[in-house]
Amino acid sequence: MFTGATSSSAGAEITEMGEERRPARPVTGRRMKTPFWLLPALALSALLGAGWSAPFNQVSPVVTMEQLLWVSGRVIGEVDTFRIPLITYTPRGHLLAFSEARKHSASDLGAKFIATRRSQDGGYTWSPTSFIIDDGSSSDGLNLGAVVVDDETRNIFLVYTLCAHYHYCSVSSLMITNSSDDGLTWSAPRNLSREVGTRVFAPGPGYGIQKRFSPRKGRLIVCGHGSLDEDGIFCLLSDDHGISWKKGGSLQGLPFNQPKRSGDFSPDECQPYELPDGTVIINARNQYFYHCRCRIVVNSTDGCETLPLENVRFDEGLPDPAVAAGALYKQGVVYFTNPANKMNRVNLTLRWSFTSGDSWEQQYTQIWPGPSGYSSMTSLSGHVEDHENIYVVYEKGRNQITESIALVKINVYGRL
Ligand SMILES: *[C@@H]1O[C@H](CO)[C@@H](O)[C@H](O)[C@H]1NC(C)=O
Ligand SMILES: *[C@@H]1O[C@H](CO)[C@@H](O)[C@H](O)[C@H]1NC(C)=O
Ligand SMILES: *[C@@H]1O[C@H](CO)[C@@H](O)[C@H](O)[C@H]1NC(C)=O
Ligand SMILES: *[C@@H]1O[C@H](CO)[C@@H](O)[C@H](O)[C@H]1NC(C)=O
Repeated sequence: MFTGATSSSAGAEITEMGEERRPARPVTGRRMKTPFWLLPALALSALLGAGWSAPFNQVSPVVTMEQLLWVSGRVIGEVDTFRIPLITYTPRGHLLAFSEARKHSASDLGAKFIATRRSQDGGYTWSPTSFIIDDGSSSDGLNLGAVVVDDETRNIFLVYTLCAHYHYCSVSSLMITNSSDDGLTWSAPRNLSREVGTRVFAPGPGYGIQKRFSPRKGRLIVCGHGSLDEDGIFCLLSDDHGISWKKGGSLQGLPFNQPKRSGDFSPDECQPYELPDGTVIINARNQYFYHCRCRIVVNSTDGCETLPLENVRFDEGLPDPAVAAGALYKQGVVYFTNPANKMNRVNLTLRWSFTSGDSWEQQYTQIWPGPSGYSSMTSLSGHVEDHENIYVVYEKGRNQITESIALVKINVYGRL
């Protein structure tokens, strides 16, 4: 077991931004009073699980809390820049956030740590930053990545890539680490490229899913994109709870295996989610703005064995500047976050759909009007179910998206 170094000062260094956006909220000395969703009575709703549907006429998401999890600028563990936030629920009903801690610059290249923080009280307080993976002094170090929870075995997997850009390195490796104690400790990383090959694969960024409905109930699915000339979406599948992995479906970019230019088809960073009919929807970055400055959406009805071209569409309802976005299915509602602007990474916005993502409600919730980049979403589900709240982590700044990583807690019924 590898527990990693802990930066004890991390939490204390964090200053608040977006203070004006925090609604008045009764603050008690300790916020640790047992949340309603942990009460045994509500084990019933967990049993009903995905069958439970939100009353659509009451959906009115409002930000109830915001704080910065990571601030760039060498104030936390001397890390230059934090980017690429991920968030997941844990089997015990807690929250885990991750980011790339870029040691020396804001570049996608260079040496990094994987930083993590954990919250046991619904996102109000967070453990200090732990650096769970360290790539040393690599010139093309690690890139995040996807986190996926196996609700059956209660294992959490984190998948990331080394040498994704062939920058002073010639072999790309896909690495996986797992935690069986709710995210407290992590295994030594395993080299998945021995099984799935060394072709560049950049998972997520976001979360992977475990199929809850047939077909292929229980399957773990991690989707991402290949970089370089053959760009496109790929998924990795595991039918034995993460012991072995194989390549699943792919959606290739066009022209195939050639350098792309503006206007070419190049589905890129992506986020899958499952609908109750067992369909997996993958919402992807449209890297070269093929057809529109909006999201590419593809669906798979065979547990991501295939991502058929005839199932691709372009969602004009989701304007996008080419970025990694957040998507989440929860109780009959699909939620989506991105910087909702065709040209620039600004205007981090939450949208929602009562039609599985076919159409979006007119209303929306603006999370941050200024510079905002990648985002990722979760909510407590699985063994501990919370029907009220979703959590978004996103890159936030006043002048640049690289300034910090923020967490917002959103009550989907507008309850403060
Ligand atoms: C999780 O990590 C432990 C420790 O390295 C390893 O023994 C185990 O096989 C891993 N589990 C899976 C499913 O990968
Ligand atoms: C991972 O495995 C591949 C294939 O065997 C190998 O080429 C690569 O060097 C390994 N990477 C690491 C970091 O060990
Ligand atoms: C899958 O994609 C096809 C083609 O866009 C569409 O007709 C179908 O409704 C989609 N299925 C779901 C569940 O979204
Ligand atoms: C922010 O997003 C909303 C919702 O998509 C949109 O109506 C608005 O025009 C956007 N504003 C900017 C400045 O991008």
